[in-house]
Amino acid sequence: MKLIGPFKQIITLRNLALKGPLKDESLEIIRDGGILVEDGKIKTIGSFEVLREENRDFIKTIEELQSPQVAIPGLVDMHTHICFAGTRSRDYAMRNAGKTYLEIAKEGGGIMDTVNATREATREELEELTLSRVKRHISNGVTTMEVKSGYGLTIGQEIKMLKVIEDVIPKTSASIIPTCLAAHIFPKDYDGTVQEYLSEIIENLFPVLKSEKLCNRIDAFIEEEAFNAKNIAPYFEAAQKMGFDITVHADQFHAGGTEVAVKYNALSADHLEASGEKEITLLAKSNVVAVALPGATLGLGCAFTPARKLLDAGCSLAIASDWNPGSGPMGDLVTSASILQTFQKLSTAEVLSGMTYRAAAALKLRDRGTLDKGMKADFISYSVDDYREILYQQGQLKPKQVWIDGKTV
Ligand code: NIG
Ligand code: FE
Repeated sequence: MKLIGPFKQIITLRNLALKGPLKDESLEIIRDGGILVEDGKIKTIGSFEVLREENRDFIKTIEELQSPQVAIPGLVDMHTHICFAGTRSRDYAMRNAGKTYLEIAKEGGGIMDTVNATREATREELEELTLSRVKRHISNGVTTMEVKSGYGLTIGQEIKMLKVIEDVIPKTSASIIPTCLAAHIFPKDYDGTVQEYLSEIIENLFPVLKSEKLCNRIDAFIEEEAFNAKNIAPYFEAAQKMGFDITVHADQFHAGGTEVAVKYNALSADHLEASGEKEITLLAKSNVVAVALPGATLGLGCAFTPARKLLDAGCSLAIASDWNPGSGPMGDLVTSASILQTFQKLSTAEVLSGMTYRAAAALKLRDRGTLDKGMKADFISYSVDDYREILYQQGQLKPKQVWIDGKTV
């Protein structure tokens, strides 16, 4: 058994609601706290001195902190596209010179540009690029991250991406959750119709994902330039039948995706920048987690997800980075979430829960996201006296230490 502390404050985030608004007063703060760890899990959490006394005979090591630190659960980034090659700085400049994201996509740029670069990259190159982004994320406090395919867009290239993601898993202590996004856009070079492309994915890719255990999650981009409620139906119906979890890129530029997410009982509906009252009500009545991706708002210079309205309507709200070369090049979860906070007037509790246990719920992970007995010992600390400093410094404050399974990384 190992005791870690004393922390100035431990923000446990336990015993909070999965849905709806949260007040900062509801946050549990353990002062001068300690975390007792055994076999990678939290054994107990409480006063450092009391834990030290009570467990004197069982504690093997004490990791005694030499400076004031505040601990929170390790961050969960439940939506990323960090497996990619190339850059889209040209797109970024073009957008800022007046072209729209959808116009650039129509001209064959956009997502297809990254598809070409990713297809050309070898597995080794792609793995190195992905792993370096994983490492940067860990140093920013992210201990669990989802990673999507979606820049392959052929059976072989989608498998290549998911195998790269699989190969990264044993090379990092962070948890990597893969998702298949074969319905990112219709690949312009595909010799056939949209329906034929999707049929091929259903018949020849989905079974491989199962047999090779490459992922349990299926995603699609529902948007004018991508797929719509009608043509995506066979894809999500097949995914559902085969027992995959579903997640949706919804309402980014136009409403429409939320309805699809609710219809297929998705774990989450992500983006929602264009959601209106109808979509917000639909989500609030469902168990679909609403996901804000402020990094995409900052990358595109468009509206923020109506996070305040979603929470007030009773939705669960997760916040993720959407780190990708096109719309979300920043890839900094805490920076983008703290900016979302100021624009949408979110409480600190709402933002922290969106990057921890509510994000974990959207990945169907019940063993993390709060600091509590029996939970995975993933937590991070910052060199501050008060937890509010973390978001206040808008991403410029980096974690002092990151623990995964109770071990410092
Ligand atoms: O979540 N909107 C669709 N997919 C990504 C962008 C991918 C890209 O532009 O490369 C997103 O914003
Ligand atoms: Fe995305």
